[in-house]
Amino acid sequence: MESSPYLQIEAELSELEQVLQKSIHSDVELATEVSAYIVNSGGKRIRPTLTVLLAKTLNYQGQELINLATAIELLHTATLIHDDVVDQSEIRRGQMSIHNKWDNAHGVLVGDFVYSKAFQLMASLSNKEIIQTLADSTNRISEGEVLQLNFLESSAFEESMYFEIIGRKTAELFKAATVTAAILADVDERTINTAGEFGFSLGIAFQLRDDLLDYSGKETKTGKKIGKDFLEGKVTLPLIKALELTEDKESDFLKSAFAKGDRKDLTRVIQIIEKSGAIRDVQKETEAYTNKCMNLLDKFDNSIYKKCLETIVIGLKKRAT
Ligand code: IPE
Ligand code: IPE
Ligand code: MG
Ligand code: MG
Repeated sequence: MESSPYLQIEAELSELEQVLQKSIHSDVELATEVSAYIVNSGGKRIRPTLTVLLAKTLNYQGQELINLATAIELLHTATLIHDDVVDQSEIRRGQMSIHNKWDNAHGVLVGDFVYSKAFQLMASLSNKEIIQTLADSTNRISEGEVLQLNFLESSAFEESMYFEIIGRKTAELFKAATVTAAILADVDERTINTAGEFGFSLGIAFQLRDDLLDYSGKETKTGKKIGKDFLEGKVTLPLIKALELTEDKESDFLKSAFAKGDRKDLTRVIQIIEKSGAIRDVQKETEAYTNKCMNLLDKFDNSIYKKCLETIVIGLKKRAT
């Protein structure tokens, strides 16, 4: 049996693309033009893929799945547009980010436009619990981004704060993607909780890998600039671990380079972080979360869709894109 996650739900994913296009349509052509620019730039669609696969794992047969999955991808898209304005990231998905191609005002306003499109789709869903879950989740994501402001250029390099932030800004939406799929499938409370824990743990693993790739990935693969977290003054686990693992000379250099945020220091920074063993430790931590995901999946009945979810979890451990 075919267990390639994307092939198995090819029809659903192609419908998702159609609903995405329809959703960003507006009488204001500029709003459609700018949002189509990012929507059509090749995101991985991992969150809606999780929603579809999980609902099918739990035997959902109804008609609302694609609208739900599209609302989730739109929420994600809006957060990306705003995130790039806040981070002043120059490239996204291998092309100029919106605020870079247009300007900050376009980024902020089109981000709002895409959020509002997500809300319109959410409002069309018949289950109030799903709408409530998505609304709560959107709130926690934005709180996470605000919380991160506190942590920026902070001298407190604390793991607990780091996990709090990534839980909110990333894992929360993964959790919403899986919890809402379970609610839609009308399963019992325990299964809904398992689905939520699965999505949350996968989201943490996903962001851990993203933060690792920010130091050790390839721009041609990630479609984002390497080293941007460090230069933006964003404290992430590779840096926290490297500071724990290095002696005074190197950790002092990391701290002062971090405070300066000068691209010229980046080669040495990356060398120190790699040599310290921090990348290896972050990878281990990522795998602890993907292992947890595999254990949670064991609680669901076997099916081709569950197999696809397992393939996604395993692929995430070594994802380069
Ligand atoms: C990027 O998410 C933001 C993070 C949570 C790290 P993705 O890596 O899913 O972005 P796209 O949609 O595939 O571009
Ligand atoms: C994830 O954090 C941002 C969102 C959840 C929107 P990052 O800032 O690490 O994401 P990238 O690296 O810019 O995609
Ligand atoms: Mg960013
Ligand atoms: Mg990142």
